[in-house]
Amino acid sequence: MNISETIQELRQRFEAELASVENRDAVEKLRVAYLGKRGEVTQLLAGLKSLSGEEKKEFGQKINLLKRDVEGRIAEHIEAVKKAEEERLILGAEQYDVTLPSLHPHTGSYHPITLVQRELEEIFSSMGFTVEDFKEIVTDYECFEALNIPKHHPARDMQDTYYLDNGQLLKTHTSAAQNSIMRKYGAPLRAIFPGRCFRNESTDASHENTFFQMEGIMIDTDISISNLIYFMKTMLSKVFRQDVEVRLRPGFFPFVEPGFELDISCHICGGKGCSTCHGSGWIELCPCGMIHPSVLRAGGIDPEKYTGFAFGLGLTRLAMMRYGIKDIRDLNSGDLRVLSQFTHE
Ligand code: PHE
Repeated sequence: MNISETIQELRQRFEAELASVENRDAVEKLRVAYLGKRGEVTQLLAGLKSLSGEEKKEFGQKINLLKRDVEGRIAEHIEAVKKAEEERLILGAEQYDVTLPSLHPHTGSYHPITLVQRELEEIFSSMGFTVEDFKEIVTDYECFEALNIPKHHPARDMQDTYYLDNGQLLKTHTSAAQNSIMRKYGAPLRAIFPGRCFRNESTDASHENTFFQMEGIMIDTDISISNLIYFMKTMLSKVFRQDVEVRLRPGFFPFVEPGFELDISCHICGGKGCSTCHGSGWIELCPCGMIHPSVLRAGGIDPEKYTGFAFGLGLTRLAMMRYGIKDIRDLNSGDLRVLSQFTHE
């Protein structure tokens, strides 16, 4: 092999070896093997001594060119390896690659009761009502006495109460907040207070021991039953997105006088009669009435000067009707196969 061929062969071998080098140590080894004291290129240069003047010049140039090329290629490769190492380090530290699509794109959904509650809050806010939050553990006074239900009153039997050891109880209805809210704000007053209620009942498709109500009170001079009907009709027409007819039937609750059961025209059959409304064309939705003077007085409001209405909307019932939920127990089940189906329109 003459020197030209040797140079050619060395160049090719170097390139092949360089291509398979992946870390800085390996590049360094390659550098020593070619450019080190006993490296192949260095030895080739040393061999020039034995050549004649003319050859020395010719091959000297070629070998020096090879040397420079090898040096350049090694420097380039060190840079590339360094960069790749840094990238691996960054990805390794963060443990993820932000450019990859996620494996389980999953968006949560609101509970149907939350959806209906928010919708009602919006509707009532737009009519000047404030939204109040109230505790779930209440006193006997708040839940009964202040609402004109003294001890041993038969009305207490209507509400199977969970009592706590300390004499307090889990609120059986959102009316338990009426007294505190009247005392807090005085009259005139417009407020709604949604909340979770508890009754010691055995459960089936339409009964739960834990359910939601939304109470509303409006107190001012000259509030009458027609105000009550107007507000309920407006609110329900918005919720059901159609004009809803309402009717009042007498109902008894010690904290209202007169007291009513408010029915709405069945939105399934349009009032003609179907299985949902048991053929009557009406659905019972919301007990209500004019606030009893003793309840106003207990709340620090003068019944000679002010009147007001109160209603106790069954939020759970409303959510079931709004979304066509057949079994009330699905709502407390936490079962995502059921709950993830509901969305806000
Ligand atoms: N608090 C009553 C209940 O849950 C409902 C109600 C509220 C009735 C307001 C009249 C006025 O049974």
